[in-house]
Amino acid sequence: MHFEDVVKERRSIRRYKDKFVPLSLVGELIDIAKHAPSAGNLQNWRMIIVTESDMRQQLAEASMEQYWMVEAPVHIVICNDYDKVKDHYPVMGKMYSIQNCAAIAYAIMLAAHDAGLGTCWVGAFDNEKVQRLLDIPDNIDPEIILTLGYSDDTKNPQLRDQIKYLCFQEKWGAKFKKFDNEYDGVEKRIKFEMNKLKNKLKPIKKKAKKKK
Ligand SMILES: Cc1cc2nc3c(=O)[nH]c(=O)nc-3n(C[C@H](O)[C@H](O)[C@H](O)COP(=O)(O)O)c2cc1C
Repeated sequence: MHFEDVVKERRSIRRYKDKFVPLSLVGELIDIAKHAPSAGNLQNWRMIIVTESDMRQQLAEASMEQYWMVEAPVHIVICNDYDKVKDHYPVMGKMYSIQNCAAIAYAIMLAAHDAGLGTCWVGAFDNEKVQRLLDIPDNIDPEIILTLGYSDDTKNPQLRDQIKYLCFQEKWGAKFKKFDNEYDGVEKRIKFEMNKLKNKLKPIKKKAKKKK
């Protein structure tokens, strides 16, 4: 897929087909995603690949009862092995270690979408429960659960804020120079939907004219 399409088309998938995902494919995705950046290249991410349905059920329960998660044949529990990062960066280490996990999580999501798979980032879970369920030692934090599987959902690209609301030029508060893409985000979507409506109305208007 084209990179822009991968990024724009990826959506959070919460409905999955009952279709097996080979572990070799999960490995391939992570093999791509491991090229994500990490502070000091410390790569403190560790991943537990959960496929067993009883455990997926328990993980869903530990995730504030988000039972839709069970449908996903694979859960990737991204864990933070932060000791080394804290040793290298005594002040910022804890934060860096979490950011590193976020970087690989998103890389997995994009690699998965490119490979025709759906994912959802789950951040709402009880850390201690997940630790207990998966025998995760005390010095390792589960940060993110990614659900993974073949999507059973059709979703349009998500609306995003316009660039002019996201960026400043050179300093905080200074307007960002005009962006080429006038119809970024919401405006682009409104224009698209308006055109769709206009096209639908065309034959109706034609009929009405003929009747006159
Ligand atoms: C830090 C973080 C935590 C999230 N936690 C959850 C979650 O617990 N459950 C869930 O269904 N989605 C969760 N999401 C997914 C967001 O709801 C989703 O990314 C957002 O609504 C944008 O939709 P999109 O991913 O389809 O573009 C989380 C996303 C992030 C980045």
